[in-house]
Amino acid sequence: MLNLHHLKELYENEVIEFRRDLHMYPELSLKEYRTTERIKEKLTSLGIDIIDLGMETGVVGLLKGKEEGPTIALRADIDALPIQELRDVEYKSRNDGVMHACGHDFHAAIVMGAAMILSNMRDRIGGNIMFVFQPAEETNEGARLMVENGLFTDIKADLIFGVHNTPEIPWGKIAIKKGGLMAAVDTIKIRVRGKGGHGAIPNATRDPIVAAAAMVMDLQTIVSRNISPFEPAVISIGTFNSGTANNIISEVVEMTGTVRSFSEETREILSKRIKEVLEHTAKAYNVDVELDYINELPAIINSQELTELAYKAAKEIVGEEGIIEPIPSMGGEDFAVFTEKIPGFYFWVGVGNKEKDMEYVWHNPRFDGDERAIMIAATVMSNMALKGMDYIKGK
Ligand code: NI
Repeated sequence: MLNLHHLKELYENEVIEFRRDLHMYPELSLKEYRTTERIKEKLTSLGIDIIDLGMETGVVGLLKGKEEGPTIALRADIDALPIQELRDVEYKSRNDGVMHACGHDFHAAIVMGAAMILSNMRDRIGGNIMFVFQPAEETNEGARLMVENGLFTDIKADLIFGVHNTPEIPWGKIAIKKGGLMAAVDTIKIRVRGKGGHGAIPNATRDPIVAAAAMVMDLQTIVSRNISPFEPAVISIGTFNSGTANNIISEVVEMTGTVRSFSEETREILSKRIKEVLEHTAKAYNVDVELDYINELPAIINSQELTELAYKAAKEIVGEEGIIEPIPSMGGEDFAVFTEKIPGFYFWVGVGNKEKDMEYVWHNPRFDGDERAIMIAATVMSNMALKGMDYIKGK
């Protein structure tokens, strides 16, 4: 009987070939048509059923084991980014201006690797394994769309595991952390309205640029003055647009920004204080302000129980020395949308390799990772699914 380690060797080349194919033909969020076809073909060839959510892109596959039992889901995201690849490799992107610069090709290959392993051992699985290939992670839309189309509402699963690569950690290391791993994401859209006029006669105007500049500075005091120094939080203004000429005081300033946090309490303080600071600064400068505060994603918080389960599953594949505890990221992940519906666990796999010049951060045009990490993560995820099955049965 083949064990997980044998199966890892068995499928390594095939999985790398699959990853390179996706890498050569990257597709943007909600346009992952070819990627979707390739995934469906491969799952079908493994004897895995496709569940139709009625979506144009993204795939859900269901592997039925030897008997009825719990359903454990494994999730990958599959979309690419509008970036021109600058790395010179044989599997370089053939789609101009589009690139797998966040390694979602890795994730798709990892979950496909797990599908290969688990389909090979289906007569030993007492339940179902669901493979979720999610579109549009980069735009924070995909997970929500899948849920709206019935995933984890009509179509049930008991537990979900997700993974992201990270080039800052050496390839093959598994990064597992209890508690907050990725932050809650809120978007702010601010519109400051004054009264335009001549740049030489400011007293006849209400200058929105001066007011908005003060708002940017005042917003920066919220994290430093209103949030505990022990609580992670970020407010960043990313766009600031106004004006048409040097001697015209404009009517309107439009700003957008991102707000990050982990705890619900901090998230509430941030939204409350942002509103107060904007309104009062507007009053002080005699302008009007409108705020759109959009709660995009919850944080990813790993529970104690599932962290222990994941640690055991990883340890059997990479040993204790192969596991590290990472520093959490203020980046967001729409995997968190799934964990609002069912319990889940999220981890990272290292793909960094200094000798191969594979240490560029996510979204860099030279991003790449060591492909040997793919089957390691696939084997770890398979083991998490098997342990997850026992965990649900034991509940
Ligand atoms: Ni990503």
